[in-house]
Amino acid sequence: MPEDGRETDVVRRDRFSGGPARGFLSSLAADERLFEADLAVDRAHVVMLEEQGIVDEGDAAAILGALDAVEEAGHGALPDGEDVHAAIETAVIERVGDRGGRMHTARSRNDEVAACIRYRLREDLLAAAEATLEAREVLAAVASEHAGTVMPGYTHLQPAQPTTVGHFLLSYESALARDADRLFDAYGRTNRSPLGAAAFAGTPFDVDRERTAELLGFDGVVENSMDAASARDFLVETTAAVAALATTLSGLAEDLVGLASRGYVELSDDYASTSSIMPQKKNPDTMELVRASAGDASAGLNALLTILKGLPRAYNRDLQRAHPHAFDAIDAVTEATTVAAGAVATADWDAEALAAAAGEGFATATGVADLLAMRGVPFRTAHEVVAVAAERAGGGTDGTATRCDSPDYEALDAAAREVLGEPLDVHVDRADVEAALDPEASVASRDSLGGPAPDALDGAMGRVEEGLEADEERLQTRRDALETAAYRLREEVDRRV
Ligand code: ARG
Repeated sequence: MPEDGRETDVVRRDRFSGGPARGFLSSLAADERLFEADLAVDRAHVVMLEEQGIVDEGDAAAILGALDAVEEAGHGALPDGEDVHAAIETAVIERVGDRGGRMHTARSRNDEVAACIRYRLREDLLAAAEATLEAREVLAAVASEHAGTVMPGYTHLQPAQPTTVGHFLLSYESALARDADRLFDAYGRTNRSPLGAAAFAGTPFDVDRERTAELLGFDGVVENSMDAASARDFLVETTAAVAALATTLSGLAEDLVGLASRGYVELSDDYASTSSIMPQKKNPDTMELVRASAGDASAGLNALLTILKGLPRAYNRDLQRAHPHAFDAIDAVTEATTVAAGAVATADWDAEALAAAAGEGFATATGVADLLAMRGVPFRTAHEVVAVAAERAGGGTDGTATRCDSPDYEALDAAAREVLGEPLDVHVDRADVEAALDPEASVASRDSLGGPAPDALDGAMGRVEEGLEADEERLQTRRDALETAAYRLREEVDRRV
């Protein structure tokens, strides 16, 4: 019995969905994520309908009051329904009688669900951006702590050139900055209101689409009503951004797994696991799970693209199975981002082992060749001198040996005599060669923009800080806008109930 005492004789008639496919058709359980969003969308729509004179004050007040009661009772108390939108409407009608049915004037579930998904996803996008920002802050902080910690750098997983832990970590900060940028980009196109599109073909009612957009904190409308009801590219874009972020994280995770395997870094106990049989083990399981979350994200992206590909205009029920993939992906990757940040923040770098390893495999070879080239020897010839010394020191070009020890000055001199036909000191001082063979000096010499030398890293650190501040502001501005809109909508509701 409705509160106003009238019998409810017009309820949603489930003419076609009472059969064995009922559960298959229903998205009610998955829609729990959209419960709050649907209430907000309902409220904004009803406020607008009243302002436009489409629904009178009494009916608007009754519906808005019922929506508060529905919210209070929670998603779990909703009556059965095909989806959260239908169930909330039924719950409103149960409370206030037939006039509750006016809530669905001048709209369709098609524009309604699209509005709900966008409304909810923008919050998730900001949470993902925030997690990314926190990870960047951690990377920057640990990088500055280890600006001078020399470590081996690899290409093809072979010792390549010495670098620093700071330079290595900032490389991931840079990548995450672009990932954050993509999330903010996706936010811009997600935060548009499709409301008022109705089923896809607009409505004869004098709706104010800009007003509902404003009430819900959207930055504008998706204008074409057929596009508004159909468009899900914001899901593709969001999930692609999330997949790119997960791909960055998977690289970081893989690097940490590898470095931990060689004893160069140790994860804190909070981010490691033991073995059930091997008592000595400390495994980097969290990083492996972070690495795997890229699979969730790309699976979600694939599912979305496959569901959306070839869908005709305008609304098709396939769409019901689309957005959960975006939500699942963003959940998995946001969590992975936070875990990766926590692991980096608490990891222990073994500076001594890293320094010792930095020179292994003749990783300073390029620096010696660079030095010769700086003294006038053509780089290719300098490369050959050093390559000959490397081969003699146990390296190979025939694939049988991939690593060698660093040759000493005498060995390099012998190679110079062979390749150049003259001793090495015709071109370079012995002291300079010996400095070039030292990993720390090698790092310090590479001070070009973006390089690992302390000066270059210092400059980079300043720009990282600026970028972080700018992104904090981007995040806060958007959060504030949403909060203000929610507050104002609540005021509009309170003025009526
Ligand atoms: N639950 C649907 C979805 O998530 C929205 C309802 C639109 N249904 C319809 N038959 N037009 O997409």
